[in-house]
Amino acid sequence: MSSGKGLIQRRESVVSCMEKTQLRMKHTYGRLRALVRIILLGGASGLALSTAFGEEIGERAYQTHCMACHLVDVRAVGPSLVYIAQTYPESSLDEFKKWVKNPGKKDPRMIQMPAMGHVSDADLKDIHSFVLNSTRGKTEKGGSKRFPDFVEPKRPLPYVVRGFFPDASPASVAIVMKNKVSVCWDTEICRIRYIWSNSRTNLNNYFGPNKLQVEPYHKELREPLFLTLSEESPEFLGYRLVDRSPEFHYKLDGGVEVRELVKQAENGEIQRHFTASGITEEIKINLSVEGKLVMTSDSGRVQDNWLTLTPSEASQFTLTLNAK
Ligand code: HEC
Repeated sequence: MSSGKGLIQRRESVVSCMEKTQLRMKHTYGRLRALVRIILLGGASGLALSTAFGEEIGERAYQTHCMACHLVDVRAVGPSLVYIAQTYPESSLDEFKKWVKNPGKKDPRMIQMPAMGHVSDADLKDIHSFVLNSTRGKTEKGGSKRFPDFVEPKRPLPYVVRGFFPDASPASVAIVMKNKVSVCWDTEICRIRYIWSNSRTNLNNYFGPNKLQVEPYHKELREPLFLTLSEESPEFLGYRLVDRSPEFHYKLDGGVEVRELVKQAENGEIQRHFTASGITEEIKINLSVEGKLVMTSDSGRVQDNWLTLTPSEASQFTLTLNAK
């Protein structure tokens, strides 16, 4: 009997032991779930905290690095944050970072944005979130368009325009002529650099380095035309417009002054009318050019592409650029 009793007791104890284990397991699971919940909650609130914190860092970093040029809903030196948020949504963080570290040139009315390589990736991410959050529901004041569509100015040709041109000094100008001809005249070396064919409908062509869309069809030497007279580089004195065509004025050593009027003739050829004063010796001009045009002179003698002019010939002569 006692053994049977013992068996039952043992069974009971086994059952209770199993129950206890189950209970313990239940308990552990509950504790685990609670723990998971705590981790999850903690994580979530931690996340919320860090997002809020990130936004604050973003706002501060924006104030430090960007606010001088970018305001929330108005265009300033640079576009508004509303425009930036539209152009660089959540999914475009990488493009956003890329632009800030190495900005391009887009809006012809604005300066080029300086590269912001010193701002860390983490700060840029926070600035980006701040840009998105601070502009939510906002529109740009003064219209949503960042800048109006380009309308070709009704300017009679030719005209002179300042710009940055590839392979020319920053002090170069373009002379925009008929038949889609543009001439780059560099005021540093005081001569034509090159001539290219352009479409006047996009003035962007004239801004920013490397914006020439077409390879120039005419290029000239790098040294000044009147180099034989002087070792010094010429001193640019300005230009005036004669019938809308520019006449450039520069000075060389020894009191020589040169004026070059660059104009397009009716037949399309480009004429360069030179007037020089103070020349007392024979001069030589290198007529070598590269491309599809040839340079000829209306006076003097030419040998091996070198033009020789007496002082009186040099006081007034014309070089013409013509198709070969
Ligand atoms: C010195 C002024 C200046 C500062 C400082 C400056 N920007 Fe700009 N930013 C500009 C200008 C100007 C443009 C417009 C350039 C253009 O369109 O050619 C621009 C354009 C942008 C654009 C738009 C690019 C596009 O695709 O049109 C973004 C994005 C931008 N800036 C982000 C920033 C951020 C982020 C900072 C700070 C880390 C910053 N900028 C600091 C002047 C500045």
